[in-house]
Amino acid sequence: MTKLLYIISSPRGAASFSTKLGNAIIEKLKIDQPDIVINKHNLSTNPYPHLEEPHITSFFTPKEMRSPEQHQLIQRSSDAVKDIQETDIVVIATPMHNYFVTSGLKTYFDSIVRAGLTFRQTEKGTEGLLTNKKVYVALASGGIYSSGHTQSNDFATPYIKLLFTTMGINDVTVFYVEGTEIPGVTETALEKAIEKISV
Ligand SMILES: Cc1cc2nc3c(=O)[nH]c(=O)nc-3n(C[C@H](O)[C@H](O)[C@H](O)COP(=O)(O)O)c2cc1C
Repeated sequence: MTKLLYIISSPRGAASFSTKLGNAIIEKLKIDQPDIVINKHNLSTNPYPHLEEPHITSFFTPKEMRSPEQHQLIQRSSDAVKDIQETDIVVIATPMHNYFVTSGLKTYFDSIVRAGLTFRQTEKGTEGLLTNKKVYVALASGGIYSSGHTQSNDFATPYIKLLFTTMGINDVTVFYVEGTEIPGVTETALEKAIEKISV
């Protein structure tokens, strides 16, 4: 059995380009791995909190010394860490928002990149604690960033890759559905993006 964690972050529901591309990635994965079990989370309808002082204090309080309130406050973050620890594949579907990922995906990452759980600091630097996982990203953007002079404006791709590298996952593949707001491009953008999926 293969476990797949599916993270959706577009606020646009069924109309979302990134979600449609994410769904297509999963369909392609299912061809060779029909036994995939999907654990789906929608960050738009069920967002993670912005980290405030009590969250940070709870994270850095040793588990056995946390108060019941502290445990409760970070329970969802701890559950999210467990989900990613236990999965084989992660699929992230996100639109580009202001050259970056959605704020919902950012707060999710803030909840799972946890010292001592998904990474640790050593004398040699940061060491990721997650191993043997593949990540596929479906990134939707109104403009085109995969080539040309706008390439360096895509802060989402390097950020997502760095985030997973920090946690020990280097096998990250990004698929793009681009130009979704460009007349003449948007009409075929999804179809072209799905054609390029190789998993
Ligand atoms: C708040 C907001 C910010 C956006 N910022 C960008 C951007 O920086 N660059 C871009 O190319 N498109 C931008 N877009 C357009 C979306 O990336 C585009 O419509 C995308 O296809 C949406 O994906 P979705 O259908 O999965 O939600 C933005 C859209 C919104 C709503």
